Parts: sequence; C-alpha cells; structure tokens
Amino acid sequence: MTNKLFPVSLSYMFRYKGPLPFDVFIERHPGKFTRIHRQHEMYDPEQLSHFEVKGGELFVDEGQLPEFNSFLSSLLEQSLVSSEKLESSEATEIMALGLDLTFQAIINQTDVLNDNLKNANLYVKSCLNLLSQDSSNGIDIYLAIAQDASLLKHSFHVMLLSLAIAQKSGYTTEKVLAPIGVGAFLHDIGHSRIDQDILLKQRLTPKEWDIIKDHPHLGLKMIDHFEGLSHEVRSIILQHHEYCNGRGYPNRLTQTQIFPPARLVAVADVFSSLTMKTHYRSVFYSPRDAINIMKTDLGHFDPLYLDSLQQVFVKPKKKIAS
Ligand SMILES: [Fe+2]
Ligand SMILES: [Fe+2]
Repeated sequence: MTNKLFPVSLSYMFRYKGPLPFDVFIERHPGKFTRIHRQHEMYDPEQLSHFEVKGGELFVDEGQLPEFNSFLSSLLEQSLVSSEKLESSEATEIMALGLDLTFQAIINQTDVLNDNLKNANLYVKSCLNLLSQDSSNGIDIYLAIAQDASLLKHSFHVMLLSLAIAQKSGYTTEKVLAPIGVGAFLHDIGHSRIDQDILLKQRLTPKEWDIIKDHPHLGLKMIDHFEGLSHEVRSIILQHHEYCNGRGYPNRLTQTQIFPPARLVAVADVFSSLTMKTHYRSVFYSPRDAINIMKTDLGHFDPLYLDSLQQVFVKPKKKIAS
C-alpha cells in the first residue's frame, strides 16, 4: 500500500447500522497494518468498537478520505433528522474530524507546500474550535460546504494560504489569525446555495453571471444567525471579490473601503483558483506563474499581501560562502 493511514475514531457510530464505504485498519505491530473491515461490507459496531475499548487505534486509508468525509456528512445529516439526535459534543467531534482529515489530505497532496504553509496549520485547530463553539450552526455550515468536494478543498486551501500570508504580513496573535482563518474557510459558502449546473458551466449568460456574483450576499445570509462570528469574518465573506481599484463586486469598494482581512483573503482566493485543479477549471499554474499573473492584474490586489504571498513561496537566496 502506498497511501498513508490516518487514525480515526468510530466510537460515536454506535447507533449506525449499514455498510461502511471505506476500509478500516488496525496496527498489529508498529508500521504493520491489517484490514479488519472491508469497504461496502456491513458494519458491526461491536467488532470495531472492541478494538477501541481495548485502547487500540483504527485507521482509514488516505485514498479513501473523500468517502470517509462524505460518510461523516451523511451520518451528521441523518442524526439531525432522526429522533435520536447526536449529543452536540459528538456532532462537534465528527465535524472537527472531518475537517481535519480533509485538511491533512490537502497538505499531503500539495507538493508545493513548504514550512511557511505547514506553520499555518498550527492555527487551523483554533479556527475549527471557533466554528464549533456554536455547534448546531457549525454543523449546518460544515454540511453545506462538505456536500461539494471541490468547495471543501478550495475552502481549506484558501484558509491555509490566508493564514500563511497573514503570518508573513506580521500578524502573530491567535486573536487576529483565527477570524482570518474562519473567514477564509467560509468565504465561498454562498456557492452552496447556487445550482451546480451554473457553477460548472464554462460560458455564463449575463443572468447566470449575476447569480454567481450574488454568492457573497448569499453567504452572509447563511451565517446571519451564527453567534460568535466576528465583523472580520463577515467582511471577508462579503468583500473577497472587491478590487482595490473599485472594479470588483458586489459593491465596487476601493482599497481603503475594503476591510484588510478581506483584501488578504482575496489574494489567497485567486491564487488558489489559479494553482488548484477543480471541477470548474482544468487549467492550472505553478505558484511562480500564478504570482506573475496576479502581478500583471494591476489594481486588483493589495500589494502588501501579494508581496507576502510571494514570500510564502519564494525561498530566500542562500548566501554564497566566501
Ligand atoms: Fe468567492
Ligand atoms: Fe473562492
């Protein structure tokens, strides 16, 4: 097996009956794994929880993380409509695990990541904690994003990049970084309210383009009742498509009118779209080419954050020993 295995807990699944869409492994000896459950076979809660009760860990193959993640989503969805609702602590645990696993998968699959980006990972946990403080709304939001694998991946990528750019720009405290990370994660949540046929379409009519351009407002409405989300998070969702030269949307704001965290996330957002392959776009660029393209787009980005992005990816030149 070439893929990595991730430790998972299935202890909260004691109420689930049915087949599991992923394999489950245990580590019999250090580095030696044995499959104890085969993908799509009926799940026997007692058999799997037996290992956990005895203190053993269960593992899922990295290659099956999309299946694992969508399984967690459907489990959450079922429990939200069933009479036997999950305890909020259980639901928060499932959400955090799903988010964490997706995030790990991105880190492992993106070979351009360097230490700057891995440092950003340190702050992801505090962002996730912030999101799960309001657990019922947090779950709804997670479900809305997780139902579209491309959106989930893009949201995490922009979150990671934004945290790296923020640190390169001199923001160091958790109080400042956590809202930037959460805002970046939620920036496109409004896409979850737009028809996939429109999102996937190559040539949009003016009317369809107007629908797409409404996603900042749709996103803002979705988090309206979410307690504890700060002004920074709301401004990122509403303003991440504004341009410093006033040619963006939805309100054609200019540089000083756009809240700094939104200007920062705008840089991460476009960079993510240019460098990651998605359902929406098959052409993608190297980090260096993407930064060069962004530099030619005069007036769009805040130069301070574009410069920080460059510092994330470009290694400082080594001094030649004399
Ligand atoms: Fe957007
Ligand atoms: Fe985006």
